[in-house]
Amino acid sequence: MPLPDKSVDLKGRTALITGAAHGIGRATAFAFGEQGAQVFVTDIDEVGLEKTRAELEERGFGVGSKVLDVTKEQEVTAMIESAISEMNGLDIVVSNAGVSVAGPAEAVPIEDWRWIVDVNVWPHVYAVRAALPYFREKGSGYLVHVASAAGILGAPALSAYSLTKFAVYGLAESLAVTLHGTGIGISVVCPLWVNTDITERGRITVDPDIGMDESSARAFGREMLRNSGIPPEQVGEAIVSGVLENRFLILPHPEVLQFAQIKWADPESYIERASEALQSQRRLFGERSGN
Ligand SMILES: NC(=O)c1ccc[n+]([C@@H]2O[C@H](COP(=O)([O-])OP(=O)(O)OC[C@H]3O[C@@H](n4cnc5c(N)ncnc54)[C@H](O)[C@@H]3O)[C@@H](O)[C@H]2O)c1
Repeated sequence: MPLPDKSVDLKGRTALITGAAHGIGRATAFAFGEQGAQVFVTDIDEVGLEKTRAELEERGFGVGSKVLDVTKEQEVTAMIESAISEMNGLDIVVSNAGVSVAGPAEAVPIEDWRWIVDVNVWPHVYAVRAALPYFREKGSGYLVHVASAAGILGAPALSAYSLTKFAVYGLAESLAVTLHGTGIGISVVCPLWVNTDITERGRITVDPDIGMDESSARAFGREMLRNSGIPPEQVGEAIVSGVLENRFLILPHPEVLQFAQIKWADPESYIERASEALQSQRRLFGERSGN
């Protein structure tokens, strides 16, 4: 670890995954298990985590688990320590747990801005602070940071979410440059839409100009992910391949690279085109709510 030699496999390695009770984290745990890695799964949702753990065990994968809240630094530190002692060492940490906040920047309550920064940003810092000294000491290890396409491209009507994902991207890129050649690998994962229940667990402030109530807005978001999202399993597999190839930028949707190239070639035109996409989304919302 990292795995510059592509013939090295994941058998006997241990991967810790946060936010593994559902969605991308859960799928990533199975993807590592399929490769012969042991997995240490964590989440704030005790019931969901137990289900993931039981299913991993049923498949015969080596598994440990811990219920915790990633917004608490002591809990993240204890999580890394438990994984190291229970699994006899730790090779890969996937910082995946995350939430969404949608709505107009000026209307989203300050508590929701703070909440999303607490869940989506700080835990990446806590994981680095807890795992990096251990990886440095053993001269190997791998940190995977799950950001989003919204961490490369300013996402329409998701300012709070984009704020946090750009922060994660910046942290990961800086770490990758700093740690290059040290034996410690860094990846950042930037998917577009993925078919998970993230909107159910997220917070929404309805845009007063659209007039849709919160539950309809939530249902709309869920439907969009269901219709346009790729399965979380595809993201889990992309993460495992990215780690095996020691690749910094993991893009489960390859078109994100093209969008980023368009953006950097002509930032003004990106703003115009993304804004047009937002207008058509608003029209759809409006039609739904009868406005
Ligand atoms: N779904 C998408 O379209 C999409 C796209 C790009 C990036 N992402 C990112 O992927 C990651 C996973 O998202 P998902 O779509 O699988 O969502 P999800 O809601 O299905 O899973 C997120 C998991 O994180 C856990 N979690 C939330 N707060 C926590 C906390 N304080 N402590 C510990 N665990 C906590 C939840 O219980 C849940 O199991 C997130 O960082 C998200 O921003 C998602």
